[in-house]
Amino acid sequence: MRRPALSMVFSVAFGLLPQMIMAQSDPHMHGATGHDEINMPGLRGRDATVQESREMEVMFKGFTTLTREVENLPNGIRTVTGSTDPEVMAALVSHVVGMTARVEEGRDPQVFVQSPTLNIFFARTGAIETEIEVTEEGIVVVQTSDDPEIVAALHVHAGEVSDMAERGMMAVHERMMGQ
Ligand code: HEM
Repeated sequence: MRRPALSMVFSVAFGLLPQMIMAQSDPHMHGATGHDEINMPGLRGRDATVQESREMEVMFKGFTTLTREVENLPNGIRTVTGSTDPEVMAALVSHVVGMTARVEEGRDPQVFVQSPTLNIFFARTGAIETEIEVTEEGIVVVQTSDDPEIVAALHVHAGEVSDMAERGMMAVHERMMGQ
């Protein structure tokens, strides 16, 4: 049973390779300058800054410090995400603020390991109301929508974030292999 699993890992890795090489040779690509500090290349994106990729790297490397609660609302989600590590917490806050702004403006970062669940958010700009508050327990995010397909995607995405917070990159690799 090890063999098929291994070949799937390789096909995911090689599937990403052409995109990464293209990104590195693309002068408009901000996330891959060749001398940045991103050691997890899958976190680069066609429109992601080095800082954005670095923040995701900090969260993945420090995922064991993350805490998370999710409440599925009839019209959206309420989540509380925290970290016991101040550096991870700072990366998380910046990530959430930056990514929800991107969603509002329809600016898809096209990160290589990005979940396709996010596509509908970037396609339907203005469909989500977002409220963010940083508290002692963590960053509280309330997102609501009148669009039932967006609400369904919010529920799915909140579950994907919980999976990443619980299992780090393993969650991403398994999701990509399942596609
Ligand atoms: C350990 C990894 C990660 C953590 C802990 C994390 C955390 C979060 C949190 C807390 C939110 C707010 C929504 C919610 O609470 O469900 C969020 C939103 C978002 N994240 Fe991440 N994230 C991670 C990885 C990624 C990756 C790899 C991407 C790829 C681009 C990404 C893109 C986004 C986007 C676009 C949003 C905004 C979605 C919306 O407005 O509904 N995240 N993330």
